Amino acid sequence: MTTAVSAVQSQTPARFAPPPTRRLSRETGVRGLLLFSTVLSVVGALLGVGAWLLLARVIGGLAFGQTAGQASGQPLAAWWLPVTAGLLLLRAGLNALREAGNARRSAQIVGDLRQRASFKLLALGPSALSDLGEARSSVGLLESLPKLSAYYARWLPQASHSAAGLLVAGAALWWLDWRSALIVSLTVPLCLLFLVLVGWAAQDASTQAWTATTRLGARLSGSLRALPTLRAFGAEAAQAQALAGEAETHRAATLKVLRAAFLSGFVLDFAATMSVALIAVTIGVRLFEGGWTFTPALAALLIVPEVFAPLRQLGTDRHASLDAEAPAAELYALLDTPEVESGAAKVDGLPALTLRGVGLSLAGRPVLSGVNLSLPAGGRAALVGESGGGKTSLLRGLHKDLTLVGSVKVNGVALAELDTAAWQAHCAVVSQRPRFLAGTVLENLNAKPERVQTVLNLVGLTASPHTRITEDGHPLSGGERARLALARAALSDADLILLDEPTAHLDPLSEREVLGQLDVLFAGKTLLLVTHRHVPDGFAVYRVAGGRLEQQS
Ligand SMILES: Nc1ncnc2c1ncn2[C@@H]1O[C@H](COP(=O)(O)OP(=O)(O)OP(=O)(O)O)[C@@H](O)[C@H]1O
Ligand SMILES: [Mg+2]
Repeated sequence: MTTAVSAVQSQTPARFAPPPTRRLSRETGVRGLLLFSTVLSVVGALLGVGAWLLLARVIGGLAFGQTAGQASGQPLAAWWLPVTAGLLLLRAGLNALREAGNARRSAQIVGDLRQRASFKLLALGPSALSDLGEARSSVGLLESLPKLSAYYARWLPQASHSAAGLLVAGAALWWLDWRSALIVSLTVPLCLLFLVLVGWAAQDASTQAWTATTRLGARLSGSLRALPTLRAFGAEAAQAQALAGEAETHRAATLKVLRAAFLSGFVLDFAATMSVALIAVTIGVRLFEGGWTFTPALAALLIVPEVFAPLRQLGTDRHASLDAEAPAAELYALLDTPEVESGAAKVDGLPALTLRGVGLSLAGRPVLSGVNLSLPAGGRAALVGESGGGKTSLLRGLHKDLTLVGSVKVNGVALAELDTAAWQAHCAVVSQRPRFLAGTVLENLNAKPERVQTVLNLVGLTASPHTRITEDGHPLSGGERARLALARAALSDADLILLDEPTAHLDPLSEREVLGQLDVLFAGKTLLLVTHRHVPDGFAVYRVAGGRLEQQS
């Protein structure tokens, strides 16, 4: 699958490609959010315009006995002032309600996306999770999703809020004074153009900052993990220097984002202030020359900021939307990752495998082709051969973590037709780098203590069952981790055992001892073993070479 970093990098030159946030705007629940937000925005804008018209009439009436607009009407007395204040208060209340509603709906949409991402991660399985790479762990991906909240709670509703303000206040302006409305209709597109131009600069800065954050995180966690090795080779200083370099790149990238944010705020403020000033000057000149009366002029002046205030806020919220782009790109890269085909068929009895003309490609590169292999129920086979030849990948394919092409049958049923979860319950995998649950050895084995002890003796693990281990098996040695992984496979209910170099970390003598116990450990089960070294007796041997698999004995 596309890793997080490559997903981010691939979007850098794609300025004119649809941003991943466009897909965010098509998610379920967005329509409801926009409808709710727009209705409240329109009502709020009407209340605001109404309040300013009233205020202008009250002030005009008090000062000159005039009414606002061309419509006839009586000047209003000072006691209308509390009504004006009431309208403004009502509008503030509606705004608060709108924001609270948007936050709630946004949390719901992001929660749904998070759930879909979690289910997808589960469906893809541990193998695809390891493909996510160190740069972005699955946890990191899920943790970055709250960044999408700002897109839903702020940017999208603010865009509709600006449009509502523009339409309602613009219509009132046309009614009051077409000249001011004309200036607004010329300057608003200019503001939007600035918003887009600065947005492009900010988008590049934001993408760079995200890449820098991801790389810094990956290098930090990688360095911490490799610290004992780095220390053993005296390479801590060089690594610390490299880390400082990444931190500096990260600092510079973050500052660039801040600069873009300030620039965008400044440009929009400047454009909006200039437009209001231009309108104020033309109104002032007309008032001075006696071409217009005070009340409509005041009403127009009060209403003009109603157009620009939401636009300024939109400029600020544009950054919220930019922050969402990188997590959105990763999210959709994950959601678009094809899953291995799953059917509904179940396996009956001990699995027997028949592979005919099977092939396997990784990242578009053919790794294996024309593979023929027969493993009868309860049989034993070993895969040997060159490193990088595709042995591990073939095991992953048989476990349905990768898609194999050609004919793979389990007890006569095509592998693709098997229910993936049910099939994987039949398989126990001992991988080259086994992973555990953080807890005791006993908790990892999940079986009765008496059985555990027998199996631990068979695999030769002398550590106490109460030893606490981490997810990667610390403090057990490499060989002990492999023995524990073997014990776990032996204690599981699985009946197809896929062993990927389980004895790679053992000395030759211990290797022979452990391999000698495989028959007892996995008695009555089908066994496929990958090994570079000793092949125990009774195993059919298949050699991987040059992208093919040949039976040797
Ligand atoms: N997820 C992946 N994406 C792209 N290429 C991959 C992926 N996994 C493995 N490969 C490539 O496929 C080839 C086969 O890898 P694989 O791990 O199956 O080899 P192997 O026979 O198990 O090697 P070894 O004996 O060293 O464990 C390698 O060239 C590897 O780089
Ligand atoms: Mg391998």
